[in-house]
Amino acid sequence: MDAMVSFLLLLALFSAHHHPARSQGGFNFMNLLCNSDNSYALNSTYHSNVVALLGPLSADASSSTVGFATGAAGRGPDQVWGLALCRGDVNGTSCAACLALAPGVAFGNCSGVRDVSVYYDRCLLRFSDEDFLASPDDPAAPVQYGLNLDVNNTGDPARFVGLAADLVGAPSGWAARNSTSRYAAGVMTSAQGFATTDFAVVRNIYGLVQCTPDHAPEACLGCLGRLRDEMPAVQRHLRRAVPHGVVQP
Ligand SMILES: *[C@@H]1O[C@H](CO)[C@@H](O)[C@H](O)[C@H]1NC(C)=O
Ligand SMILES: *[C@@H]1O[C@H](CO)[C@@H](O)[C@H](O)[C@H]1NC(C)=O
Ligand SMILES: *[C@@H]1O[C@H](CO)[C@@H](O)[C@H](O)[C@H]1NC(C)=O
Ligand SMILES: *[C@@H]1O[C@H](CO)[C@@H](O)[C@H](O)[C@H]1NC(C)=O
Ligand SMILES: *[C@@H]1O[C@H](CO)[C@@H](O)[C@H](O)[C@H]1NC(C)=O
Repeated sequence: MDAMVSFLLLLALFSAHHHPARSQGGFNFMNLLCNSDNSYALNSTYHSNVVALLGPLSADASSSTVGFATGAAGRGPDQVWGLALCRGDVNGTSCAACLALAPGVAFGNCSGVRDVSVYYDRCLLRFSDEDFLASPDDPAAPVQYGLNLDVNNTGDPARFVGLAADLVGAPSGWAARNSTSRYAAGVMTSAQGFATTDFAVVRNIYGLVQCTPDHAPEACLGCLGRLRDEMPAVQRHLRRAVPHGVVQP
């Protein structure tokens, strides 16, 4: 890997140090999506297919050079598709420990749901009864995101989200075109800084972007661009709800 990528990764690791948010075994939980109204019984064939899929999927992702694996199990109406992804700067051991937490959350909090996504800061896992892997480059695929509300910006949310969107935009080209794991990270410094709910003033804003490595470069770039473009709208929505919201960049 290139010197610039190493430099950026160090900055991302440094930032992780400063955000001890909701934590389970040291892994920060980000988001959970019970994506489907379709359900299955806990003793069904579909359930055993999901269980049979998730172990090997996590092992494959953790041992893969790009931290990613896809798979399927079962057949016919009981077939399940899945993917597991490690964050680009997370090693296999750490990723495996992170992915090991996901089934408990999926089965416990989306019990019986046939399509579930679990996002941790360092890994993500999805399984579904639809073959969502068939077209990773589909620009019409719905965007999924979660908000980390553990630390809020109490200063100037609009200025913050503007900088954060710029920060997300800057490494996107690198992630899409120059990284086989489709990952890049960066940092931006604001001289003026931002007041937050847990630090007096924060000047550095850290960002990372990552596509699943099955995205072609242009599709990855397009997807990251859509997310970046949505950030101000998410910010406005939060401000309507409660005045001090922040989108985690
Ligand atoms: C699954 O459990 C339900 C209720 O607990 C039971 O009625 C059904 O027979 C079970 N099905 C199988 C295949 O074991
Ligand atoms: C993997 O990452 C974890 C967490 O950052 C670290 O404690 C561990 O030493 C790393 N393991 C290897 C083999 O690099
Ligand atoms: C999952 O369920 C447990 C127990 O009901 C609850 O404490 C936890 O907050 C839930 N987690 C999420 C992410 O909904
Ligand atoms: C890819 O890396 C090269 C140097 O290795 C750099 O000049 C170029 O700007 C990078 N491309 C993108 C899109 O970041
Ligand atoms: C941040 O703001 C959200 C809503 O905008 C709120 O639900 C949450 O409690 C706030 N967090 C803190 C730490 O103040």
